[in-house]
Amino acid sequence: MVTLNSVLVVGPTGSVGLALCKRLIEHLPSFKRIAAFNNTERPAGPAKQAILDELHQSGMEIVSGTYNDVSAFRGFEVVMMPLGNSGNFLQPQIIDTAIKAGIRHFYPSEFGGDITVGDNWNQRYYRDKVLTREYLQKCNSELRQYGDGIGWSLVCIGRFTEWSITPYFGWNHINHTAEVYGNENVRQSLIALDELVYHQDLIFKIQTNVNDSVAAFTVLTLLDPFDVEDSRSCQRTYRFSQSSPTWKELFGIMEKVTGHPYRVTYRPVSEARELQRRAKEIGDEKLESAASHRLVQGTEGTLLPQPWDNSKFPEISKIRGVEEVLKEAFHSEKYKSFYGL
Ligand SMILES: NC(=O)c1ccc[n+]([C@@H]2O[C@H](COP(=O)([O-])OP(=O)(O)OC[C@H]3O[C@@H](n4cnc5c(N)ncnc54)[C@H](OP(=O)(O)O)[C@@H]3O)[C@@H](O)[C@H]2O)c1
Repeated sequence: MVTLNSVLVVGPTGSVGLALCKRLIEHLPSFKRIAAFNNTERPAGPAKQAILDELHQSGMEIVSGTYNDVSAFRGFEVVMMPLGNSGNFLQPQIIDTAIKAGIRHFYPSEFGGDITVGDNWNQRYYRDKVLTREYLQKCNSELRQYGDGIGWSLVCIGRFTEWSITPYFGWNHINHTAEVYGNENVRQSLIALDELVYHQDLIFKIQTNVNDSVAAFTVLTLLDPFDVEDSRSCQRTYRFSQSSPTWKELFGIMEKVTGHPYRVTYRPVSEARELQRRAKEIGDEKLESAASHRLVQGTEGTLLPQPWDNSKFPEISKIRGVEEVLKEAFHSEKYKSFYGL
């Protein structure tokens, strides 16, 4: 039985990356080596440096270099790549470098809907996640010819609860209105990313008291022993979620959280489809991706299929409900600007 003992996190200062690093630190004694990758080609600044410093002081190694720097990737068993959507296209490059450095297991930047569900695989929004999965398959097939191979772990969650009520998705928390796609019965699966972590905060303090989140589950999967010979033969998918409320239920929850009812307009998904088509026609990739994201939302693309894997990790005995997480996030200073307040 094998577990993944030495871990490199690429994109450690992003929302998901930072949450993962904090949980790794919490489990420090269970790992041989945990490190955060500092990409020296990316913009730097005091906020990012403060996070890296704190990670370092809390027990993580900081590895500096570029995504082509084989020597920087040496000595790890697994690379986690929680890059943001605009950086996801870089994953094949990271995979190449990591393979050259001897790494044989990957956690690609998933943390969303199951992209094999419905029409997700063909959605522009998921394009770079699809390309990354295809690239992992291709590398594995090539390496197999030489008796080698790579493995991967996919973490699918639907949506982060904290992200489900953002202006980006049509919510206006000042006027208490919303414009969303689909109808009131459309569902989405939700689970908290972590405790209140928001990457625009300048001061980041390690708090290790909330264990019922995607970040906590994901770190436990590293310690989940393979039932195959080694990490290069292991390709597994984990699905974690708390519940799958409908739009109507989510608006009901937000009424309780804010004390205000929301006036909701449900837009037909055909509009999002048409917007996506037009955006593609004029070559506006950002708009195309945003329209595609709305289409995914309005057609239950983030409804996570059962069975979920929560119970495989009895260490996490209770997962906070949607109302509890949103109450906490909505009233926190940290999320104010995120929610347009
Ligand atoms: N299901 C949901 O509700 C939900 C919500 C949010 C995110 N997600 C998913 O979670 C994953 C991580 O998202 P996130 O919000 O944590 O990401 P993020 O905070 O936007 O970015 C994470 C890191 O990616 C790197 N990065 C971003 N853009 C880049 C670019 N153009 N070139 C190179 N590097 C870039 C940066 O690393 P450096 O620090 O090295 O510069 C950044 O810190 C994504 O796959 C996203 O789809 C899901």
